[in-house]
Amino acid sequence: MDLSTTIAGVHFSTCLMNASGARCVTQEDLEQLGESHAGAIVTKSMTPLARSGNPEPRYVSFDGGSINSMGLPNLGYPAYATLIPGLRRFKKPIVASIAGLKPADFLEAVSAINDAKPDLMEVNLSCPNIPGKPQIGYDFQASEELLLRVRDLAAVPFGVKLPPYFDPVHHEAMAEVLSRVGVSFLTVINSVGNGLVLDPESETVVIKPKGGFGGIGGRMIKPVALANVRAFWKLLGDTVQIIGTGGVETGQDVFEHILCGASAVQIGTVLVDEHVQVFERLERELAEWLKKKGYDSVNACRGKLKEL
Ligand code: DHB
Repeated sequence: MDLSTTIAGVHFSTCLMNASGARCVTQEDLEQLGESHAGAIVTKSMTPLARSGNPEPRYVSFDGGSINSMGLPNLGYPAYATLIPGLRRFKKPIVASIAGLKPADFLEAVSAINDAKPDLMEVNLSCPNIPGKPQIGYDFQASEELLLRVRDLAAVPFGVKLPPYFDPVHHEAMAEVLSRVGVSFLTVINSVGNGLVLDPESETVVIKPKGGFGGIGGRMIKPVALANVRAFWKLLGDTVQIIGTGGVETGQDVFEHILCGASAVQIGTVLVDEHVQVFERLERELAEWLKKKGYDSVNACRGKLKEL
């Protein structure tokens, strides 16, 4: 079974990789991804300065999903710029996730990371967890202004990591921004921002930052993720590749993302729960699904969802 894929002209020997944020902050995390069956190494979203992030508890998984408000803990882009050349020994694509608290932070990181030559940059327009900083992806004009400036600087193909949208008008507006800018790929979706999970016994929230509000991931967000993959695939077709993420627990979930139009799939909550061994399981389960449905590759299945 051919599980390989191509994103923005970069070959991936398998279409499964970590979602930014999940087990990818430290050198050890990144090396474990390198040694695993993951098809790529995606870094934690990086900012100019190292950050320890929000107070704990800040990540809780529960039956059906997870809630997080990490607050961008990361080593800072100078550290990732130093680490990335060493990760090349794993012979798989390296995707640098770029974030920031203000536009200048993104531009600084893009300039510095250029020299480390990651294969791709994923510009994160959708961190929901910094108090007072709205997700940029919900402001179409601010997104376009930032992406145009990134385009002027980026020396490698770049894509965007988007928040979920819940209205077709918003999918269309963002698709127009992405077409005007000419981004090479998109990753959808980031967590469903600012959900609230409680423990009714103790009558408390389960995470400390922001009064308990945080990004929701895992099984319960799969329909939202699939809808965003499908909506953007219908609007943008094969002009850009889509990396699907959200709600993937099994090979069946990966298969569904691919049917909707995803060229690759990222794993968040179950990677945190199961560690990097999850990639071998998902690879096996995906291959079984593709075979059962008569496809000989990921490529052959992409976008083949039937409408009634
Ligand atoms: C964090 C969460 C996100 O969903 C994201 O895109 C970036 C950062 C965080 O809280 O660290």
